[in-house]
Amino acid sequence: MYVESLDEALEHFDISKYDSPFIIPTETVYGIAARIDREEALRQIFAIKGRPSDNPLIVHISSLSMLRKIIKGNIPHQYQTLIHKFWPGPLTLIFECSDSLSPVIRGNALGTVAVRMPSCPKLRDLIDKIGEPLAAPSANTSGSPSPTTVQHVIDDFGDRVAHYIDGGPCQIGLESTVFGIINGEPLLLRPGGITREAIENALGYKIKVQSKTQAGEKIICPGQKYRHYSPSATVYLFKGPNWQSTMAKYAGEFNGKSLGVLGRRNDEYPFKYSHYFELGSDTKECCKNLFAGLRELDKSCDVIFIKTLSLDHEGLAIMDRLEKASTHIVE
Ligand code: TXA
Ligand code: MG
Repeated sequence: MYVESLDEALEHFDISKYDSPFIIPTETVYGIAARIDREEALRQIFAIKGRPSDNPLIVHISSLSMLRKIIKGNIPHQYQTLIHKFWPGPLTLIFECSDSLSPVIRGNALGTVAVRMPSCPKLRDLIDKIGEPLAAPSANTSGSPSPTTVQHVIDDFGDRVAHYIDGGPCQIGLESTVFGIINGEPLLLRPGGITREAIENALGYKIKVQSKTQAGEKIICPGQKYRHYSPSATVYLFKGPNWQSTMAKYAGEFNGKSLGVLGRRNDEYPFKYSHYFELGSDTKECCKNLFAGLRELDKSCDVIFIKTLSLDHEGLAIMDRLEKASTHIVE
């Protein structure tokens, strides 16, 4: 395994290094990447992550001309507004996909492709030099918390990936927002780095949030149906206004176990716990630290306690991850 910085990757550019899966830093989370024209490498991504084969890969581009090569037809006008406002950045859009795209990317009955343009200019330079879009899901073992440092990825994949590019800790820390106009209906399929309010402001109308698939509903975003972001520890999410007394009551039941608190600055936790990880005070800081906190506490705790956040702005994305990471939700 070797690890290099983005600067080194650009300076000592060697196209043959990109024939197998490699790790890239993005502003959201680290990704495990392969060129979209390298079928064997794309297949290896599924194997390394343990990813179900019906969960398609998102594609990263560095220019609109790259986008036009992989989609069918024109860019819908609502998307043009969003692209103008939010690209490059943490917004993934669902397009009808070109028939020329590898079946491994199209590998589902949806006939669509999810695309985003990452905000880091050096990563876009690298995609430009490679000359092909990169498919890159989050670089974690399927189901576990996403990685926000290169060490998190090494912890999950080790030598199973040969080439790591280190860009330092991710700025945002939660995955991109996934948005699509599906059969004419604007749907927020995964809350993330761009808030629902920001998208609604740009479009001038309200959008529906459909980040969970209900029983019997047609699956539009396959990732929704799998358990996600979960450490091995048991995670309790406390929802009610009396969370402090409820937490204290539950804490009493875990005497002798290693209890961790994923806490907010200035909150008081009036009971005994063995580990504490501070998420920060504002929601942006909480986004940045959430996955690192889950991974850190998971190293030493049997049980992790977290309290809920309000569902507006960045809170919606954090709560989506927390609900999917939790084993128990205490109302
Ligand atoms: O921020 C991100 O989006 C990160 C970084 C590395 O770019 N990537 C990421 O990829 O989170 P992944 O694969 O972990 O999550 C992509 C989500 C999944 O829920 C997947 O089901 C959904 O996007 N998705 C992919 N292709 C889709 C498609 N054609 N239609 C609907 N949903 C799609
Ligand atoms: Mg993921």
